[in-house]
Amino acid sequence: MEFDLIIINGQLIDPGFGFSKKADVGIKDGKIKKLFEPGEITKDIISAMPKEKVINASDAIITPGLIDIHVHFREPGREDKETIKTGSQAAAAGGFTTVCCMPNTTPTIDNQETVKFVTSLAENGDCRVYCIGAITKNREGKELAEIGDLVKAGVVAISDDGNYVQNPNVMRRALEYSSMFDVPVISHAEDEYLAGDGIMNESFTSSKLGMTGRPAVAEEIAVLRDVKLAGLTNGKIHIAHISTAGAVEAVRRGKAEGIKVTAEAAPHHFSLTDDLIEKEFDTNLRVNPPIRTEFDRQAIIEGLADGTIDCIATDHAPHTEEEKDTVFDGAPPGMIGLETSLGLAITELVEKGYLTLPDLLRKMSYNPAQIVGLTPNRLREGEVADLTVFNPEKSWIVKREKFKSKSKNSPFVGRKLKGKVMVTIMGGRVTFNNK
Ligand code: DOR
Repeated sequence: MEFDLIIINGQLIDPGFGFSKKADVGIKDGKIKKLFEPGEITKDIISAMPKEKVINASDAIITPGLIDIHVHFREPGREDKETIKTGSQAAAAGGFTTVCCMPNTTPTIDNQETVKFVTSLAENGDCRVYCIGAITKNREGKELAEIGDLVKAGVVAISDDGNYVQNPNVMRRALEYSSMFDVPVISHAEDEYLAGDGIMNESFTSSKLGMTGRPAVAEEIAVLRDVKLAGLTNGKIHIAHISTAGAVEAVRRGKAEGIKVTAEAAPHHFSLTDDLIEKEFDTNLRVNPPIRTEFDRQAIIEGLADGTIDCIATDHAPHTEEEKDTVFDGAPPGMIGLETSLGLAITELVEKGYLTLPDLLRKMSYNPAQIVGLTPNRLREGEVADLTVFNPEKSWIVKREKFKSKSKNSPFVGRKLKGKVMVTIMGGRVTFNNK
């Protein structure tokens, strides 16, 4: 049988569908054509195939392609920071086959034309790119965007990410409309009056450094309100980049009450704490919501472990070197995350015994797909070949010059991580190969 690509000697893990076995994978016409028992593809067949068509995945796991439902690709408007093309390359290097782009571009993704523009730029790229439309026009929190039109154009969720929808009545209407179209509302939950112009977590460290703080309560009040509104409207609320213990508890309680609430955690929130700012003064540590205390970090890990937090999403937020090369309060908030996400998650969550590897992979592919209503990637004959091949044992050092992202604003440069993406395959095509 002719294949475009075969992957041999790997361990398949498909946690969404409870599937785990050693098998070789034959890919043809963009699909998983056949799963072979180990040894079924003989050495003769393998040696007769062109070398570039054979991927040796010994020591590696083959899993459904990773999905990140929270990235900022900056196109249109700030192509100096990232483009759909470079962002997709970074995604592929991080093991992702699908991403969802936040609408805080210029112009805002609050209309069909911009959705179509972004989607068209992503065609034939290294990653599937979906748009998240704005909740309100220009993300100003005042007037609802044309949600039905946005959904017709293909958005998978709506969000004013970067801004909180401060007016509760606007949020209520957004939840009502979005449930008519069965898309979730993604909340950047930080009360803007309480967060104010804060540049880091309000804490002992912020007082010591004399920096204005964004208090945890700004997030907690915002999450409580949005969970309540989801309960009232029977809408679906998804809490973006959850960062505080109180917010995790609010989501936990909402779930227990049967409210349709889901949540994501970003790798920086389960890996970093705010005391690092005092030690490093690295402007790449500035992010909204801010990195918090050890107490909050532990609560996020607990939330991931007990299922309160459904998925991991990077909040990949590229900014230029010029913008970040300044004083802490002068730098824009955000850090890149696509290329370090899997490594950080394995290092901080799996290696430390908080999550099993299948649990982690479910939170990086199956669950995020479910949240935004995409068909989950699946390791089965006849399915689309969106696959991530990674070595969970391989240690590596994060190097600035290795980033595919156009921006390099990562506080993790120099860190040793365990778990390395080897090959990413999207629609049967190799989009990244580290071999
Ligand atoms: O730190 C952040 N940066 N948080 C956000 O919500 C937006 C993002 C950005 O777009 O730079």
